[in-house]
Amino acid sequence: MIFIDFQNCFICILLCLFSLLCYSLFFRKPKDPRLDFDLPPSPPSLPVIGHLHLLLSVLVHRSLQKLSTKYGSILYVRVFSFPVVLVSSASVAYEIFRTHDVNISSRGFPPTDDTLFAGSFSFISAPYGDYWKFMKKLLVTNLLGPQALERSRGVRTDELDRFYKNLFDKAMKKESVEICAEVLKLGNNSICKMIMGRSCSEENGEAERVRALVTELDALTKKILLANMLRMGFKKLVVALFKKEMMDVSCRFDELLERILVEHEEKLNMHHQGADLMDTLLAAYRDENAEYKISRNHIKSFFSDLLFASTDTLVQTTQWAMAEIINNLIVLERLRGEIDSVVGKTRLIQETDLPNLPYLQAVVKEVLRLHPPGPLFGRFSQEGCRVGGFYVAEKTTIMVNAYAVMRDPGSWEDPDEFKPERFLASSRSEQEKERREQAIKYIPFGSGRRSCPGENLACFFIGTAIGVMVQGFEWRIKEEKINMAEAVIGLSLTMAHPLKITPVSRTLRSLT
Ligand code: HEM
Repeated sequence: MIFIDFQNCFICILLCLFSLLCYSLFFRKPKDPRLDFDLPPSPPSLPVIGHLHLLLSVLVHRSLQKLSTKYGSILYVRVFSFPVVLVSSASVAYEIFRTHDVNISSRGFPPTDDTLFAGSFSFISAPYGDYWKFMKKLLVTNLLGPQALERSRGVRTDELDRFYKNLFDKAMKKESVEICAEVLKLGNNSICKMIMGRSCSEENGEAERVRALVTELDALTKKILLANMLRMGFKKLVVALFKKEMMDVSCRFDELLERILVEHEEKLNMHHQGADLMDTLLAAYRDENAEYKISRNHIKSFFSDLLFASTDTLVQTTQWAMAEIINNLIVLERLRGEIDSVVGKTRLIQETDLPNLPYLQAVVKEVLRLHPPGPLFGRFSQEGCRVGGFYVAEKTTIMVNAYAVMRDPGSWEDPDEFKPERFLASSRSEQEKERREQAIKYIPFGSGRRSCPGENLACFFIGTAIGVMVQGFEWRIKEEKINMAEAVIGLSLTMAHPLKITPVSRTLRSLT
């Protein structure tokens, strides 16, 4: 006679179901056509998590660079069963951006709830389509294109003057300066004035709140990106873990931006002819016949995207630049010589001086090559394509390691050395050759139609900020050399030991 223990049987069935669920969540690879093709090589992975541990390493750009040196410049890695193609050399990056630009012009992040950033209203994570095209046109025409930048030059000149006077004041008091904090104020005030016509007030703590929000956003974005790599069920679970944090940052951004939007609306209602980006977006929002109907959330999300994309990138690059310049006395002397001879010693450097300062421009380029603030950036293939002789399947995340591309020994001589001279061309024909070569291997701002629209503004900003600090001051450091160790905070490549140095004014009276 057979006895059936119903309780054990029930437990058995539950265990089977649970195993099946685990299998489908972690192990089962989705059936996909790429298995018939030649996938890029894949380094050894761990069971279940695949290559997740590599993406969690502290200096992720470096561990991925090491990996590509060992296994190849195009690699196939997976996070659980989420496929990622990793690009780490100039030649593969060039091929992907030249041949497949439209195909990879989305980032492929599914929206994470209705938060202002990374949500369904975000410009940065929007798929390449009508909304993205509409906003990009507004962005270039009203904020970041050459004519718009010329119109807003006065705002940046005023802020640069304030930045210099503050440093001069510190020099007189023999106080040391946290470069990050000072450049953050300069960047944040300039960007806020350019996009919404006013800086955030230091007095009532509004400016501090914006800066804190941007920093929190940076840390959150990394978590959102990693969560997006998980399969649906697991993703929901992980997102739930930091949902409160996400909603909190989003709500605080919303509150601040809504207040500023209302201020602008009140002015518009009083027939004040506004001229900043927020005015333009409000006009588009009210326009029944606009090419694309945007909502209030689109506007607020756009602003949080812009603050996120611009603030830390500018601050980190300027900080790295000062560290490199101070550590390289010959570079410092040559740079100062150039500024003194072109600008003189009585007036302060301005944006309009930059075209006449080729060595300063070369220093900015070299800093961005060695220390790109966004060492990794992501794209997404809409359709399957062939890259470097391998097959990249449709709907695959493509991660470009700009850090590795710009230190690729196959493309750069002495790739780890700080040598601004490499960007100085001696003749016009050399300039043209250099421009073509750089299009292939120099990608701190990404490449193609989805590349950074803020490149020109960034070069103005970093060039003049460094220019002021080199023209106006000698800098005292405590140690013999500045420690150049790297850290990654959120998605940004930063200095592990933030720069704190003491300015000594080169002139008795402040420059004008
Ligand atoms: C040193 C300064 C900066 C660096 C190195 C930098 C770098 C980048 C990179 C690598 C990307 C991704 C590009 C790609 O996928 O090909 C990007 C995108 C973007 N950046 Fe920048 N950026 C900087 C400053 C700025 C500034 C000042 C702004 C605006 C005020 C800005 C706005 C944006 C926006 C809106 C995007 C998203 C573009 C899109 O998805 O279409 N960035 N940036």
